Amino acid sequence: MGLLADRSIVVTGAGRGLGRAYAVAAAAAGARVVVNDVDEDVARSVGADIESAGGACAVHVGSVADWESADEMIQRCVREFGRIDGLVNNAGSHYLTLPEDDEEVRIRDTVESNVLGTMFCGIHAMRAMIRQGGGGVIINSTSAAQCGVSMVASYGAAKGATNSLTYSWAIDLMKHGIRVNAISATALTRMVGHTLEHRDSPVTWPPETMAPLVLYLLSDLSRALTGQVIRLWGGSLQLIAHPSVTPTLAERETWTVEELDRVFRHELRPHLQPFGRDMEAYPESPETTQSP
Ligand SMILES: NC(=O)c1ccc[n+]([C@@H]2O[C@H](COP(=O)([O-])OP(=O)(O)OC[C@H]3O[C@@H](n4cnc5c(N)ncnc54)[C@H](O)[C@@H]3O)[C@@H](O)[C@H]2O)c1
Repeated sequence: MGLLADRSIVVTGAGRGLGRAYAVAAAAAGARVVVNDVDEDVARSVGADIESAGGACAVHVGSVADWESADEMIQRCVREFGRIDGLVNNAGSHYLTLPEDDEEVRIRDTVESNVLGTMFCGIHAMRAMIRQGGGGVIINSTSAAQCGVSMVASYGAAKGATNSLTYSWAIDLMKHGIRVNAISATALTRMVGHTLEHRDSPVTWPPETMAPLVLYLLSDLSRALTGQVIRLWGGSLQLIAHPSVTPTLAERETWTVEELDRVFRHELRPHLQPFGRDMEAYPESPETTQSP
C-alpha cells in the first residue's frame, strides 16, 4: 500500500513544473489525483502520464482564479473519487520588474492567480471537507519573495497574502481536523527559467526533489503539523518565521510628532527591524534624499 493509498487529492497548476511533480508523485504513492491547469495541453499530457503509469486521475482545465471553475474542480474530485482529502494550491505566476515600472495587467494577474486562486480553491475544498465530516489537508504555495526580494514586489506581496491565509485558515480549521501548511519550494522550472533571462539563479535542482515534502504533508505522518510555512532550498529544510508583534517599546499618554521623532532616533533605534530576505541587521544609514 502506498503512503497516500485511498486518498483523493487535487493539485492545481499541475500541468508542468512543481505541480506536475507533486501530481505524479501523489499518484505513484497511491492517491487518486485531479490534475488542474489553465493550459489544457499540458494538463492532459500529465493526466496521460499518470494513467499510463497505472495511476488514477481526472483532468480539470480551468483557472483557479475563477470562483465557479474552482468549485467545479473540487466537485469533480468528490464526484469522481467519492471525497477530497487534500488540496495542493500550487498554481501561480511570477515576473520580474522594478516597482516603478510595474503595470496594472501584470499586477492583477499576479494577485488573481496567487491570492484569489489560493482563496477560491481553498474555500471550496474546505467546504467539501467539512461537509464530508472534517479532516483533510491544504498546502499553499509561497515564496521567500514574501520576505522582500528585489524586482518581485507584486509577487512577494501575493505570497505574503498566501502566508496570512495559511495562518488564519490553520486556526479556524483546526476544529474540523483540517491541517493547513504552506511550502516555499524551489526548483528549476519554467518560472525560474524566466528569471534566468534577467539574472543568475543558483537553483539547479529539478521539481521532483520537492515532491517528498508534499507527500509528507499530505500524509498522516504529518498529523501534528499545521500553520507552518516550510522552505526547501535544495537540500536545506527551513521554516519561515511567523511575523509577530514586538513587546511595547515605548508608551506615552498621547504621542506628538516631536516625541515620535525623538523616540525613533534614540530608544527605538536598536530595535529597528531588518527587512528583505537577505538583510541581517537594520542598515547603518538608510536615510534617503527627499523630494522638496
Ligand atoms: N520554481 C520555484 O523555484 C518556485 C519558488 C517559489 C515558489 N514557487 C511557487 O510554486 C508554484 C509552482 O511554480 P512553478 O515553478 O512550477 O511554475 P511554472 O510556471 O513552471 O508552472 C505553473 C503552472 O501553473 C499553471 N497556472 C498558472 N496560472 C494558473 C491559473 N490561474 N489556473 C490554473 N493553472 C495556472 C501554469 O499553466 C503552469 O502549468 C507557484 O505557486 C510558484 O509561485 C516556485
